[in-house]
Amino acid sequence: MKKLVGELNKRFKKSSPEEIITWFLREFSGEVAVSSSMSAEDQVITDMAVRIKPDVKIFTLDTGRLFPETYDLIQQTNDHYGIRVQVYFPDRRDVEEMVHEHGINLFYQSEANRKLCCDIRKLRPLARALNGLDAWICGLRTEQSVTRILTQHVEWDEKNGLIKVNPLSEWLEKDVWEYVHKNKVPYNPLHDKGFPSIGCQPCTRAVKPGEDLRSGRWWWETPEKKECGLHQK
Ligand code: ADX
Ligand code: SF4
Repeated sequence: MKKLVGELNKRFKKSSPEEIITWFLREFSGEVAVSSSMSAEDQVITDMAVRIKPDVKIFTLDTGRLFPETYDLIQQTNDHYGIRVQVYFPDRRDVEEMVHEHGINLFYQSEANRKLCCDIRKLRPLARALNGLDAWICGLRTEQSVTRILTQHVEWDEKNGLIKVNPLSEWLEKDVWEYVHKNKVPYNPLHDKGFPSIGCQPCTRAVKPGEDLRSGRWWWETPEKKECGLHQK
């Protein structure tokens, strides 16, 4: 599997996102899934994937701290496409233990606490969602941040032991929005209120025009730390 990565990157050098998604959904069949945070990028991928394979597995990690608008979008997306996005929750014992020990809003206290919360609310459920898969499809783009400049169409995800596919890695923000509007893709209304990147409610705030796309995420931390671990190499 790991050996395939270089070869596939060459093969998809000039391919469109649809071509890349089509190949993976056909070749990997039941062993590939779309990982969606319900971002505009992920909604584009969902729109493409559902057209290609209506029963494609699409999952989202519900940390328990999402914006109400994100929950509404999960339902709206299900209704719009006639699908059921699979929702993964954190383990209640892990969450209770963490909150008893460190408090409900522990993430503001230290980087270690923030990482613990992301681990329990996102990374452990992600491991369950990826169990048995050979590839996962994500909405990463190189333009998003300093931590993502080297993002490729196809990568080996060492931590989780499977292939990671980033069909939109070369798209710019304007490409995403062009697709969304042209295809009437449902999207989170917070994007129109200054939120280019949306994660958990307590860890995301609006940004001013011209500010970095991800500067509203974990805004109290420095840019090179702004990853929750889902995409750390
Ligand atoms: S994060 O790591 O900082 O949260 P970001 O919000 O930019 O990442 O999302 C990047 C990609 O990670 C998304 O396009 C999606 O594929 C995946 N992702 C992030 N958050 C989730 C989530 N809650 N559920 C499922 N996939 C997610
Ligand atoms: Fe916890 Fe914030 Fe990470 Fe969400 S983004 S899992 S609330 S630390």
